[in-house]
Amino acid sequence: MIKWKDDFRIGIDEIDEQHKKIFKIANEAYKLLKDEFCIDKYDRITELLEELKDYAKFHFSFEEEYMLSIQYKDYFPHKVAHNSFVEKVNSYDLNAIDENQDKYILEILEFVVNWISQHILVTDKKIVAR
Ligand SMILES: [Fe+2]
Ligand SMILES: [Fe+2]
Repeated sequence: MIKWKDDFRIGIDEIDEQHKKIFKIANEAYKLLKDEFCIDKYDRITELLEELKDYAKFHFSFEEEYMLSIQYKDYFPHKVAHNSFVEKVNSYDLNAIDENQDKYILEILEFVVNWISQHILVTDKKIVAR
C-alpha cells in the first residue's frame, strides 16, 4: 500500500485533498496488482489510467490557477513539470500493457508514486514556502 503521510501536507487544504485523491487512485492500482482472482486486468488498467490522467489534469490546472492568482514566480517550470507527467501517462503503449499486465501495473505505480511524492515534497511545497 502507498500510505499518505503528513509530510506530504503543503498547507492548502484543497490541494492536500487533491493529492490524497491521487494516492487513492494509486492504491486502487496496487489492489488490482495484488488481485490474484482477476484473470484479465486490462479493462481495469485502462480505466485507472484514464482516471489518473483526468484527475491529474484537473489537479494540475487547479494548482496552476492558484499559482497565477498569487503571481507565483516559478509558475512556468512548475507547469512544465505537470505537462511532462501527463505526457508520460499518455505515452503508455496499451498493447504492451495487455501483453504483460502485472509488470506494467507495477511500472506505472512506481512511476506515479515516485513522481507524485517527489513533486509534492519539492515542487508543490515551494509554492507555499516564503
Ligand atoms: Fe504541482
Ligand atoms: Fe500537486
